Amino acid sequence: MPNSVSIFTKVKRYILCRHKFSLPTYCATTSNIHIARPIDIQFLFYPAVCLLLLFSSITNTYADQQAQSAKILEGEKIINRSCIYCHQEDAIGKPGVAPSLTNKEFLSIASDEFITSTIRDGRVGTGMPPFKHLGKDKINSILAYLRSKAVLPSRAKKIEKQEKSKGNKRKGKQLFNQIWSGCHGENGNGYSAGGTGTAIGKAGFLKHASDGFIRTTIKEGRSNTRMRSFQGSAGLANLSNQEIEDIIAYLRTVPSK
Ligand code: HEC
Repeated sequence: MPNSVSIFTKVKRYILCRHKFSLPTYCATTSNIHIARPIDIQFLFYPAVCLLLLFSSITNTYADQQAQSAKILEGEKIINRSCIYCHQEDAIGKPGVAPSLTNKEFLSIASDEFITSTIRDGRVGTGMPPFKHLGKDKINSILAYLRSKAVLPSRAKKIEKQEKSKGNKRKGKQLFNQIWSGCHGENGNGYSAGGTGTAIGKAGFLKHASDGFIRTTIKEGRSNTRMRSFQGSAGLANLSNQEIEDIIAYLRTVPSK
């Protein structure tokens, strides 16, 4: 009996048969071998959703990357237009003129807030002018450009959470005068006091710099700049942790305009 059915009828029955088989199966009702319906919509549903999600995450990531690249490019243009004169090509800085902004230790320990607020407010009484007129977006583009130059992972969040210094300011003053005033100028007044280092005694720096930031800078220094480390045998001086705390405590008492 099955043999008397034409192949055409078999195909028709196969297509019309509503029975759902997942594997080639003999159907007693229609006397046909049913091959699993080639593509059942329910089997397609989950892979289709997964593919859709994957596709949308790929396109979103791509769009984010494009937006980030555009920001970095804008930041680079602003730096080349507004900052290069003092901070030099690639913002590598020049002693006595302006510090490096692309230095690897600086980028690794400086928080976004430290960098953007310094750009926004400038530093009163130093050569660093305020750039508030650029607005938040453009300042963030500068930040994106600087961050794109980072070679070390950022440690800023941890450093910002470090505890405040409990040093002795009197001892700190002695140390500061012995070791640092030669570079950062008397009272930490920086370039304007003939120093090759920045004005770390002025409010413009101190109000944005956390104790953790100052502590880490003293301990580690900044490679390829005159700011060397002040701890360890390779340091300019091998200060103890307590001495570093004393210096920070002293610095907090000097802010001058
Ligand atoms: C006229 C010179 C000049 C220009 C222009 C200038 N800066 Fe500065 N910048 C300085 C000086 C000088 C300092 C250090 C001030 C001090 O002694 O504390 C400084 C410090 C900084 C710091 C803090 C760095 C640190 O190590 O603490 C940042 C960030 C900075 N500048 C960003 C910028 C950006 C971004 C631009 C351009 C939009 C810019 N500066 C333009 C002179 C300049």
